[in-house]
Parts: sequence; C-alpha cells; structure tokens
Amino acid sequence: MRSPVDTALSQALLLWYARAARPLPWRATRDPYAIWVAEVLLQQTRVEAAIPYYHRFLAAFPTVESLAAAEEEEVLRVWAGLGYYARARNLHRAARRIVREGGFPATVEGWRRLPGVGPYTAAAVSSIAFGQNVLALDGNALRVGTRLLGIDEPLEDPRTRLRIRTALEALIPEGRAGEFNQALMDLGATVCLARSPRCGTCPVRPWCRTAAQGLWERIPARRAKPPKPHRHFVAALVRDAAGRVLVVRQPPRGLWGGLWTLPQVEARTWKQARPRLERVLGVRLRRRNGKVFATLRHAFTHFLATFHVVEASPSTLPAVGRFTSPCSSELPLPAPARRILGRLNT
Ligand code: ADE
Repeated sequence: MRSPVDTALSQALLLWYARAARPLPWRATRDPYAIWVAEVLLQQTRVEAAIPYYHRFLAAFPTVESLAAAEEEEVLRVWAGLGYYARARNLHRAARRIVREGGFPATVEGWRRLPGVGPYTAAAVSSIAFGQNVLALDGNALRVGTRLLGIDEPLEDPRTRLRIRTALEALIPEGRAGEFNQALMDLGATVCLARSPRCGTCPVRPWCRTAAQGLWERIPARRAKPPKPHRHFVAALVRDAAGRVLVVRQPPRGLWGGLWTLPQVEARTWKQARPRLERVLGVRLRRRNGKVFATLRHAFTHFLATFHVVEASPSTLPAVGRFTSPCSSELPLPAPARRILGRLNT
C-alpha cells in the first residue's frame, strides 16, 4: 500500500521528468529492439559516447532480423572502438535466439534469459518498452535512492542496495515504471550529481533526508577502492614492403575475442615476449631497432594495461594473420590497436 507521501514524491518526480527529460534518441521510439540496443550500449558507455554508436548500429542493423542475419565479424566491426566486445557478441547471439523463438520476450524474466542481459538491462527494457512494473537501478538511480533515504552505508554492500531497491520499488506508480526509472536516471545524471548536487532545482528535495541534513558530501559513503592491477603486453609491429601492418585475430574467448590486434602477448620485455610471439606466428622474429616503437596505456574495467610496441621482422611470411593498411578500418580493431596504427599515419 502506497502512502500519500510516496504518491506525492512520485508525482513530483514524473512531473519534473515530463518537463526536463533529456531528449535522448532511444526515448523517441517505442521499438523494443532499439531500446534494447541502447540499454546494452549504456551498460558500459556514457550517454554522450553511446549516441553516435546507437545511430551507427541501427543504421547497420535496423531490425532484430537484420542483426540476426549478420556475420559476427560485421557486428564487431560496427561496434569497434567502443570496448567491452562481449556486449556485441551477446547482442548478436540474443538476436538470433529472439528470431528463432519468434519474437521479443515481454517480461523481465524472459529478457533475463537472453545472453548479455543482466537484472538491470532486463528491468530497463521490460519497463521502458513493455510497461512492466519493475525497478531498473543504475548507478545514478542508486545514488539518488541512497540520498533520498539518507543511508550512509557503502553502496557496494548488497544489504544497502536491497534497502534502496525495496524503498524505490514501493514508489513506482502503476504502469509508469519506464518513466519512473528514467526519471531517476536523469535526476542522478543532471541534478543529484555525485559532487556538487544541484539541490536547489531538485523536484524531490522536500523528501530528501540527505538534503535536509546537508550530508551530500558523506552520502553515498565511499569505500576506498583497491588499486587496479597493472598488466604489461608486448605487441610486435611487423610491416610488409607496402607499409601494411600484420594483425591477427584474437581467439573467440578472452580479451578482445574475435577482434584483430597486432600480435601481442602478456610480457614486460621483448626477450620474454619473443619466443611466445614466434610460436603465435610460426616464424622467427628479429627486433628491428633497439627502441620501443610506442608505449600505450589503456584502462580496462579490472586492470590497467601498458602495451609496449616493438618493431620486428619475420624470417618468412607468417602463415597466420593478415596485413592491413594502417588507415583501413575494414577489420574490427579495438581502440588501442587503432591508436597504434594511427601513429603510423602521422
Ligand atoms: N542509462 C541507462 N539507460 C538509460 C536510459 N534509458 N536513459 C538514460 N540513461 C540511461
């Protein structure tokens, strides 16, 4: 049973959303396919960075049938540069399953069974596209919830999340979960900011325990994060007479599965890397000059990576991999590989 306070709070939030919602492209459609693609993009990509990829992906694959009919390599190519390629592979697999099974699931449980669809994405798609009455709690909505309730326990604690979830679920107005969820996301993204929240413009300030006590700097409580491990990779830069660069396809599982990169192994020095690179390529390698050609860093979710790029000459033509022009984007190359090739153009 919802109390009058709950109702007033939800009404204030939805009224604000009707006026202040960000005009995002996936909000101009009711197509479950487009909404699902957007939610998968937004799993690990910021809204601004996701928008061009949203248009690009839907231009390449306008329907679930067209995605299901595509080759995986084509899907990865359209995704290239965004990272977290498991998302693209799972979208593709899920599209094939949806087509095989004759349509989109309409319930949160049905969405949850698809590859790459976790509790958040299932709740977001089924509430936004199918009007299901479920809460989709992303990072922004969690911050709003913890502040509204004035809970100063770390959000990493599952008990804290459960308290927030239970309290927010009770506020969802029947039939309007999609708007409610996106209103919380927008409130978190534009008003209830992590640093310097704009409480003066907040539609739910009258109900906010954190604002009432001026505690926004302490809530949400931050737990000190352990530093990310740092891993080193040595990549061989092998060029042919035409200046094209040798790239190899990564095995389907693991980092960058199915994408093309320079031949690379996890190692700190050329001496460690060379025998393993030689095994990968099936040829002997000679280092071309004493210096490292380039050093690049890349932040993955769970570790930082440094790539040491070393120019090398093979004893014979390698039987694996392909030579690609440094300015061509025909192959799905992840961002660091693109950056390395980009340096050859200048
Ligand atoms: N982040 C994840 N899903 C979103 C949505 N539908 N709108 C805005 N931000 C989001």
